[in-house]
Amino acid sequence: MLTIAVRAARNAGGLIQRSSENLGRLTIDKKSKNDFVSEVDYIAEQEIIQVIKYAYPDHSILAEESGEHKGNHYTWIIDPLDGTTNFLHGYPQYAVSIALKNKSKIELGVVYDPLRDELFTAEKGGGAMLNNRRIRVSKQTDLSTALLGTGFPFKFPQHLDAYIEMFRTLTPTTAGIRRAGSAALDLAYLATGRLDGFWEIGLKEWDMAAGILLVQEAGGVVTDFSFNDQYLKSGNIITGNPKMHQAIYQAIEPYVTDQLK
Ligand code: IPD
Ligand code: CA
Ligand code: CA
Repeated sequence: MLTIAVRAARNAGGLIQRSSENLGRLTIDKKSKNDFVSEVDYIAEQEIIQVIKYAYPDHSILAEESGEHKGNHYTWIIDPLDGTTNFLHGYPQYAVSIALKNKSKIELGVVYDPLRDELFTAEKGGGAMLNNRRIRVSKQTDLSTALLGTGFPFKFPQHLDAYIEMFRTLTPTTAGIRRAGSAALDLAYLATGRLDGFWEIGLKEWDMAAGILLVQEAGGVVTDFSFNDQYLKSGNIITGNPKMHQAIYQAIEPYVTDQLK
């Protein structure tokens, strides 16, 4: 199944990279405020679905652009292009994300960065890899020297005040905070130790499913804002190595409203 996921991700990544040479000529639609989708998202998703359906015609699919395709208890969770806004601006930070869930458990995850040809893979119980080399989360133990990643809740104005309080607390107490614009890559970077911690409000399952398994298989901890495991449902996520996860949780906990729990 990993072979199929990798083939699908690489094929989609190839399409994305070829399209990046014609950015000005792409058809772009607006799904909602600040939420764009281009023909590349659709073409990449179709390619991924075709590869998966050919190998596993009975499996279910949950894909960002085409929604649910009902099948058996295996579900492929697909974000064909995570970081669309970056891609459309020629900002070099975007990826393909594909995960496989067996009932409610994520069993494999692939995040592919076609620009840098970086392939992040994880299988439940089998560790996490970058281009076939084992990766681990960082050994950072001190928040004051930690580099954190985050995403802004730009689609959720109702959470902006709470988010800004979290940001206000963490900005002076860490070495830096990055908002790079692809949650899938943020999580993959956490799994390799390039980031020490990460938090975001309002993610979708396809943004994070593959990245979460990468982090867990690399020795990291992932929770929702209640310190529980309902992150796929709530879309609110805190993650890091065990120490950094705890430190971020403690820092933002006072600002976690009931709606964020
Ligand atoms: C977005 C990216 C971004 C996150 C947004 C997502 P998309 O995915 O992951 O980092 O902050 O919430 O929607 O729309 O580019 O696939
Ligand atoms: Ca996404
Ligand atoms: Ca997307």
